Amino acid sequence: MKGVLLAGGTGSRLHPLTRITNKHLLPIYDRPMINWGIEALVNAGITEIMLVTGGTHAGEFLRLCGNGHEFGIDRLSYGYQDKPGGIAEALGLAARFVDGDPVLVMLADNVVEHSLKPMVDAFRANPVGARILLTPSDDVEHLRHLGVPTFDDAGEKVIGITEKPEHPASNFGVTGIYCYDADVFDVIPTLVPSGRGELEITDVNNHYISQGTMNYDVLEGFWGDGGESIDAYYTVNDFVRKNGANKA
Ligand code: DAU
Repeated sequence: MKGVLLAGGTGSRLHPLTRITNKHLLPIYDRPMINWGIEALVNAGITEIMLVTGGTHAGEFLRLCGNGHEFGIDRLSYGYQDKPGGIAEALGLAARFVDGDPVLVMLADNVVEHSLKPMVDAFRANPVGARILLTPSDDVEHLRHLGVPTFDDAGEKVIGITEKPEHPASNFGVTGIYCYDADVFDVIPTLVPSGRGELEITDVNNHYISQGTMNYDVLEGFWGDGGESIDAYYTVNDFVRKNGANKA
C-alpha cells in the first residue's frame, strides 16, 4: 500500500501566517505540521510516500524531508501542483506513483491522536473500493466546515456526503484520511469543478458510495484540522503539546 500526503492549497484561512510560508510548514508544538502526517503514515506501516505540494515554498519540503529516510520512509517522491485546483486534483498527480496499488491519502493539515493502523489494516485485508474515517462532533458550526455524511434509516450505511453543509445531516465529520483502490485515478478525470472551482474529494467519495463500495470507520480520540481556522490551529497545537499524537 502506498501513501499520498497532500500539502498544497493556499492556506488562506491562516492568513497572514501563510503569506510567508506553506501552512504545512507552520509549527504544531515542536515540529512542522507536515511531520505529524508523515509519522501517521509511517506508523501505519506505509513507507512509500508521495508528498504533493505547490506554490512558492515547495522547495522547503525537500529541505525538511529530504529522501525521507530519517522519518523511516523507504521511498519519498514529490509532486508539484501548479495551482490549487482541489484535493482530488492534487491526488490525481500521484497516479503514476501509486501505479495500481491501494493508497492511503492524508490531508497534511489533519492531526490524529491515535494510530491509523487499524483502518489501514482493514483496507489491506480487503483493498476494494474506498474507506473513510469519520469523527463524531455535536458542534454544528464545526461540521459546516467539513464533509458530512448522511446515513440510511438504520443509521448504519453512509448514503451520501455533503461538503460544508449549511444544515449537517448527521453528527459526524469526514476526516481528511481516505483509503482508495486504484479505480480512484479513473474517477478523478470524470469530476467537474465545484462552485469553489476545485475538484472535490467529496465527489470522489460520493462516486464510491453510488457504487456501493464505500466503508467507514469511526475514529477514536482526538482529530483536528490545523488549517480550518486560526482557532482550530491553536486547538491542535494545544492538544498535541499536552497529549502528543499518532499514539498506538
Ligand atoms: O479536514 C477535513 C476536510 O478536508 C473534509 O471534511 C472535507 O470534506 C474536505 O473537502 C477538506 O476540506 P477543507 O476545506 O479543509 O480542505 P482544504 O481546502 O483546507 O484542503 C485540505 C488539504 O488539502 C490541505 O491541507 C492541502 C490540501 N490541498 C488542498 C487544495 C485545495 C492540496 O494539496 N491542493 C489543493 O488544491
